[in-house]
Amino acid sequence: MHALELKNLRKSFGQTEIIRGLDLAVNAGERIAIIGPNGAGKSTLFNLISGRFAPTGGQVLLNGKRIDGRKPFEINRLGLSRSFQITNIFPKLSVFENLRCAVLWSLGYRYTFLRFLVNLHDANSRVETLMKMIHLERKREVLGMNLTYAEQRALEMGVTIAGGADVVLLDEPTAGMSRSETLRFVELIRDVTAGKTLLMVEHDMGVVFGLADKIAVIVRGEVLAFDTPEAVRANKEVQQAYLGHLEIA
Ligand SMILES: Nc1ncnc2c1ncn2[C@@H]1O[C@H](COP(=O)(O)OP(=O)(O)OP(=O)(O)O)[C@@H](O)[C@H]1O
Ligand SMILES: [Mg+2]
Repeated sequence: MHALELKNLRKSFGQTEIIRGLDLAVNAGERIAIIGPNGAGKSTLFNLISGRFAPTGGQVLLNGKRIDGRKPFEINRLGLSRSFQITNIFPKLSVFENLRCAVLWSLGYRYTFLRFLVNLHDANSRVETLMKMIHLERKREVLGMNLTYAEQRALEMGVTIAGGADVVLLDEPTAGMSRSETLRFVELIRDVTAGKTLLMVEHDMGVVFGLADKIAVIVRGEVLAFDTPEAVRANKEVQQAYLGHLEIA
């Protein structure tokens, strides 16, 4: 059984088919980088997997169970969590409060959490652990909007894994970061997703080749190649369709 399996997945917007019969099977614990030209359908794919969009056709299976057509929060409860291409945290809440919201939400508190105050101790200790994992324990009282961009992305990473999901989707996690921030963030991703299944859309080939066990090349809504980094780099079709435009170390 695969951690995540996509079978003949399709998505159209109006007349235009963006995801065109896409198949992909990811083993538990694998780190997958998804690459492809702008507009290839990578973010759309994440929206289909995470339940933001319902597919036009095909299936999504999480740990062998169909999740296509389910609501995002249901899919999240089943163990899949995602980050967004743009930073997505509460700007007027502190680091601590952002993480605590995410933890409480994942525990099912949502809008009625005052009824469950007894368990807040557990939630708070989980928040402390998360803050250490993302190296923001010294910024606990700082508001989201006052963090540096890299710190905001780290916080978002913490929010993404707060519920303990075992399948994590990251959409361009290092976009907009400096070289040194990117290198540190790669280590952060490696640490916080240890033992989890990771799918990551990424344009930075240094990050892709440094982190990924396998690379899925998506072109025009289809999987052009799905293989080890070495095999993908050597693939002539991939070079022609995509990698030729990029510098690969
Ligand atoms: N909600 C939507 N309604 C209509 N068209 C959409 C919608 N979302 C995405 N598209 C279209 O689907 C195509 C794929 O977009 P998508 O954002 O998935 O690409 P991407 O591979 O993530 O690109 P990038 O690398 O630029 O992030 C684009 O042509 C886009 O305009
Ligand atoms: Mg995108």
